[in-house]
Amino acid sequence: MEKILDKKFGRRGFLKAAAAGVAAAALAPSILGDMRHAHAEVRNFPVKSATWSEVKKMTPQQMAESTKLYQPCFDYLMDKAKNLKDSNLRKIAVDGLKNPVSRVLERVPSKSDKQKVYNKLLDAGYIKSSDTLEGVFPPDKGVGKAPASFEAAPGGGWGGHHAYPGGLSEHVATDLQTALAIEEIHQQAYGYSKDVETLTAAILLHDNTKPWIFQWKKDNSLLPETKIAGTGCHHVQAIADVMYRGLDPKLVVALADSHTPPRPGKEEAQVVGWIKAAAIIAGVDASKYLGPTGETIPLPRRAEGFLVNLGDGDWVLTGPVNVATNDVLKKIAKKVYKMSDKDLSGKPFFTLRDYLFSQRSDMALFQIWCDQGEDALEAEVKKIVKPE
Ligand SMILES: [Fe+2]
Ligand SMILES: [Fe+2]
Repeated sequence: MEKILDKKFGRRGFLKAAAAGVAAAALAPSILGDMRHAHAEVRNFPVKSATWSEVKKMTPQQMAESTKLYQPCFDYLMDKAKNLKDSNLRKIAVDGLKNPVSRVLERVPSKSDKQKVYNKLLDAGYIKSSDTLEGVFPPDKGVGKAPASFEAAPGGGWGGHHAYPGGLSEHVATDLQTALAIEEIHQQAYGYSKDVETLTAAILLHDNTKPWIFQWKKDNSLLPETKIAGTGCHHVQAIADVMYRGLDPKLVVALADSHTPPRPGKEEAQVVGWIKAAAIIAGVDASKYLGPTGETIPLPRRAEGFLVNLGDGDWVLTGPVNVATNDVLKKIAKKVYKMSDKDLSGKPFFTLRDYLFSQRSDMALFQIWCDQGEDALEAEVKKIVKPE
């Protein structure tokens, strides 16, 4: 299967990967044998060292511009977007990577338009009266202008998975590769393929609202996220956007499934709530995205939505890794960069961890700490951000 790094291999890298693939296959013949080298190559991307005084002055956008880590992931996503068969979907997915705008904002250009939608969500019980209008509709730059680039956007909220510049590309690319790998495994195991086009497009578009909802603040942390119908606002807004664009209900529902598998019962009821809330935002009839009773997704429940969820499920690991790595980095920040307790809960520490994660990823730093201990992690951190 195609891998994130396929396009990045020079001849040497390719030969090394081929040798690794042969060795892995010889050790443990498996339909996954040919994938094993990809992430080892990702870890070896060149890191840009900088002094602490240089890093201190950087914005998240500048950090994204100085790292090479997310680029293969972004290129992989662009390649997948360009290879969608449907021309409308292809354009939306490619444009979404170049300029991640939420077109649903076209229907609520003014504050009073937004307030009307807010009131409907409140009346339907999808938000609380303590939620702010800016929580449901964070500041935007006007219709057609993304508040941030896809490349600089984080993959999740502050304190969650992939919350660093470049994290969105890494999250969505690993998500897509995971889902497509499972689909391929199913093809081989069960002898039948699923709707790969819908699966691919749903994942490509599923977090396109993150550059808007998770905007970088001046202290280099992120805007907090309001919940709508019990899940993050970015998700309901993403469903609303694909509804507003008039995309196929199959794709809309598959995308909606990303936050929970639509198993009959409580989980499916959550998805139904997100679809109904999103329909309010998009100003569309929710019924075409639901089953005959209006209390389920369309029946039969298609496998693509479950695969979108399995692909998107990396937060189970990457969320706790982000928290744990932050905690150990705070100790290093105090010792090496002489940060005070106040610095640790403000811009100095946020800037340090954003730069480290954008260059090396929390996942790699966490693994160094787990495998080699705190001293090794400290040495790695000092290589990336030189103390003064
Ligand atoms: Fe999401
Ligand atoms: Fe996601």
